[in-house]
Amino acid sequence: MSHPLDDGLPLGGPPHAASAWTELEDHAKSELPHLRDLFADDPSRDIRMGFECADLWIDLSHQNLTDETMGFLVDLATQRQVVGTLQKTLIGDTVNSTEGRPAVHGAMRSPRAVVQGLAEVETGRATFDRMAALASEIRDGEARGATGRTVDAVVHLGIGGSHLGPALAVDALRHLTHPGVEVRFSSGIDPDDLNEALAGLDPETTLVVACSKSFTTLETLAALDGAMTWLSNGIGEAAIDHVIGVTAAPERARSLGLPEEQILEVPLGVGGRFSLGSAVGFSVMVAIGPEAFHEVLEGMHVIDVLSAAEPPEENAAVLLALVDVWNRCFLGRGSLAIVPYAHRLRLLPTHVQQVSMESLGKGVCQNSDDPETATGPVVWGAPGTDAQHAFFQLLHQGTDVVPVDLIAVARSLTDDDRSVHGQDLLVANLIAQADALAFGRTPDEVRTEGVPEDLVAHQTFPGNRPSTTILMPELSPSTLGQLIALYENRTIAMAALLGLNPFDQWGVELGKELATRIGDGLTNRDGAQDPSATELLRRYRSLREG
Ligand code: F6P
Repeated sequence: MSHPLDDGLPLGGPPHAASAWTELEDHAKSELPHLRDLFADDPSRDIRMGFECADLWIDLSHQNLTDETMGFLVDLATQRQVVGTLQKTLIGDTVNSTEGRPAVHGAMRSPRAVVQGLAEVETGRATFDRMAALASEIRDGEARGATGRTVDAVVHLGIGGSHLGPALAVDALRHLTHPGVEVRFSSGIDPDDLNEALAGLDPETTLVVACSKSFTTLETLAALDGAMTWLSNGIGEAAIDHVIGVTAAPERARSLGLPEEQILEVPLGVGGRFSLGSAVGFSVMVAIGPEAFHEVLEGMHVIDVLSAAEPPEENAAVLLALVDVWNRCFLGRGSLAIVPYAHRLRLLPTHVQQVSMESLGKGVCQNSDDPETATGPVVWGAPGTDAQHAFFQLLHQGTDVVPVDLIAVARSLTDDDRSVHGQDLLVANLIAQADALAFGRTPDEVRTEGVPEDLVAHQTFPGNRPSTTILMPELSPSTLGQLIALYENRTIAMAALLGLNPFDQWGVELGKELATRIGDGLTNRDGAQDPSATELLRRYRSLREG
């Protein structure tokens, strides 16, 4: 059987066959200059290593790279045909080899003139029109519940990719949300989570959006069950009329009693973590309106076009991926911290965590070979400046070197003097952190401050710690779309460099299976038990029963 990637992508194998890989291995063994020296030798380094990508400014000057490193990395991108992979991905080619599926998220957000004729994409686009009609009805106060009252709240149930992107978008663009419609999220199987999302709402005026691509996810089905009970307590048998199903498995939604007109279909080729620009974004559309939602998609498309453009040395997604590969595979850095200096982007680290770790957390190449290199980093983070008071101590002086993405927005939502001053302080903090990480403080510099000798070592900062800065002009639907798409494409590019399939997630399946089995065992006392957790289960039962 021919491999789905044989045609044009003979690269789904380990990267070490590329000559640039060997060159990078040798290069990594040489002593790279300290960032302090790199800047001293080249004061224009930040200008040379900064570049525009649509409305974003990206600065790679604080990475542990020389021009020679960059040359080898770009060679690697060329040898691994990374831009070609991005091109294939973003027009909806069958790049998901292990599931024999296309990836159509990029095609879905491209104009008809760019991608047409793909049935899945056309279905997705038709769904956009239905979503817009429904969202507008709700926003215009024309949507009525079963008892005739106006809908004023939407509760989005979903988890993973069916939660993180939409929750990020609604939170980030909260300033654009409709004042008359409350949009809330619940991602968990934890009843406290659902109860909190429903608290204070009225079943007569609330719509529940059950968002699950597979419509089999335990967490979401359990939350839907709980929400149905809540709705039934308020409006009886009409509860089902208040549920919208968002799924790639409409037959499963129908089997739960949802009529066709209450189902919004997600194309199967839209991966969960890449699904914001599909029916999964319905709650976002309700919150910010169809027009602003389409601006998010347009922002994503702008980045897609740039991510599919040669040459690699001018392609932001590829350059960011190359830096990630350099840090992870050659310098042995195991994690990447995402630190947005913007309250409104506080959910970005969690979203990027799923995009990156579910895509790159793999130990096998597309062709089933061992990648023979480290693969995706652990991605984590929190908003600055809170992060500075939580984990920056370790970033500055800990024994692990953690590359950091520092993200800033130039203009805050309000432009009064107080806000402008606050924004200046925020960005000053980001710049200070990038400098402190890169340049550190030498023992002699500490001594000139009159620090007692026994404290000098404690107050010395090694520096040479890498960061990338991303500056956005403002937080708008378009720039948010750009930022999200850039992280997506950077992830896909890193997968292409390493020969991984970024679109499957087999590693999540085992836990899902076991949870169902153990859950059945808990519900029916005679059901399957987990022999390794007998005592924990016994204690849980006894605590539960009081
Ligand atoms: O966490 C595993 C996963 O399969 C993700 O890829 C997905 O985004 C999430 O579960 C939710 O899946 P679904 O949308 O099918 O409920």
